[in-house]
Amino acid sequence: MHKMRSMNNWTRASNGEFVDVHRELVPYSHALELLETVEKEFNVKEYCSGSNAAGRWIFQIFNEEFVRELAHVINTIVKETNNEGPVLEVMSGDGRLSDFLNQRVERKIIATDAKSDRYNIAYPKYIERIDALKAIDRHNPSLVIICWEPQWSMVVIDIVKSGVPVVWIGNPDKCGHPDLFDLPHLRRRSRYALSRHDRFAAKEFRTDIFLFNCDISWFEN
Ligand SMILES: C[S@@+](CC[C@H](N)C(=O)[O-])C[C@H]1O[C@@H](n2cnc3c(N)ncnc32)[C@H](O)[C@@H]1O
Repeated sequence: MHKMRSMNNWTRASNGEFVDVHRELVPYSHALELLETVEKEFNVKEYCSGSNAAGRWIFQIFNEEFVRELAHVINTIVKETNNEGPVLEVMSGDGRLSDFLNQRVERKIIATDAKSDRYNIAYPKYIERIDALKAIDRHNPSLVIICWEPQWSMVVIDIVKSGVPVVWIGNPDKCGHPDLFDLPHLRRRSRYALSRHDRFAAKEFRTDIFLFNCDISWFEN
């Protein structure tokens, strides 16, 4: 009986560890169920800090609906700008967000990261090792994506001040610098934003998508 139950339990890999939520893009309902189970039976912080079947570090928890919403936002912005440049992800970590967005965004996406030793992230070779501000000089992007800027970093403030449209994803209380939110911005209030800082049973969700250097009229249709 016990064996049957564990065979049907899709949340666990064959070695008993919880599956990697970023192995492939799963529906929101699956990601939520997995994280609710991790919270109940293990520990979300440890799961997201490499204690999962892939040893992956996870910050935002990507899912189909969230990535679809993000792709819609990005496609809308690039249509509105006169810049033919690529979409640039800075501080991209292991690049999963750009991987998931790739088929859905109508512009080339370049993923970059300084590949800091501070994190145990497994950076793939194809992620360009470069500082965020230098990457913007090099690629002249039409739009910049940043997911989970490190706390107290002021880099995105400089990026926003350069005038390029910015899509910022994270927990505004624990990512980046609080002064960033003194700059004009739009907040999406995404229903699909999940992260390592959330309390799943209590339904306390702490992250969102924030847009800088974008006009609200672009999203009115
Ligand atoms: C919290 S991790 C987030 C990684 C990824 N965006 C994600 O959501 O999984 C922050 C990343 O920012 C990178 N980083 C920090 N400062 C940077 C800078 N000035 N330029 C480029 N990358 C930077 C680090 O190397 C690290 O990979």
